[in-house]
Amino acid sequence: MNNETTVQQMIQIARDAGQILKQQYDTPVEQVTKSSDADIVTATDKQVEKLISQAILALYPDTHLVGEEGGGQGAPIEEVEYLWFVDPLDGTSNFANKIPQFCTSIALTDKNRVPLVGVIYDPMRDELYTARQGAGATLNNKPLKVTEKNQLSQSILASGFAYDRRTNPNNNTAQWTAFVPKVRGLRRMGAAALDLAYVAAGRYDGYWERSLKAWDVMAGVLLVKEAGGMVTDYQGGDMPQFDDDGRYVVSNGHIHQQILGALAETYGW
Ligand code: IPD
Ligand code: CA
Ligand code: CA
Repeated sequence: MNNETTVQQMIQIARDAGQILKQQYDTPVEQVTKSSDADIVTATDKQVEKLISQAILALYPDTHLVGEEGGGQGAPIEEVEYLWFVDPLDGTSNFANKIPQFCTSIALTDKNRVPLVGVIYDPMRDELYTARQGAGATLNNKPLKVTEKNQLSQSILASGFAYDRRTNPNNNTAQWTAFVPKVRGLRRMGAAALDLAYVAAGRYDGYWERSLKAWDVMAGVLLVKEAGGMVTDYQGGDMPQFDDDGRYVVSNGHIHQQILGALAETYGW
């Protein structure tokens, strides 16, 4: 499974998905709200997920696929060796507002949710990110490497705010406020998978966010690790479980402890 053929198939599927996203970017799309007015889904999210899940499960019927919009599909999860995690459109709010910062994210993992292959495609910039376990990460075929920065004060970090932010007091505003005076810059671009890809590409030095789902991060986590970066939870622990309320600290490795220290101050641990 974890071979060049699979990678090429995933790339083709991500490019096909990107073509639809790009076409529909310019046309009005039907959108409905999910958990709140801040949380929307468009007809495009669903159409693209259908395309991806049908293509993958036609090639690999003995696997299980978890998609943001469609839930679990394919063979029963307890019987499979391999899983897929698919975010057909990461950055839906950007897409719906015609802000060109969104992507498709597809990850292949083993049954223990260890990422084997990750593909992220940004159709507006035609940027294709790929990573294969043990074989490095690339952007449009060029090898990726995280930055060398070792001072938080000289770093650019990204973050985001989960959809429960209106009702959950632990909504990342205290953390955002704490980082403002400590860093060179903060960015909230609105597509978690691209935030991770940008750390891998050396555009950001680090990133933190809570309440991320496996489909948001699986591909990006592999990209960052294969580009020489570090991924932990908010307290520095490994996070192989990729549960549905993941707290991720992602960095070039050199500033990791400084990010963890700043988070610890806000949480008081
Ligand atoms: C969201 C984006 C956003 C992040 C949210 C995600 P969606 O994904 O990645 O940047 O802050 O936590 O849910 O809904 O656009 O696929
Ligand atoms: Ca997402
Ligand atoms: Ca999505």
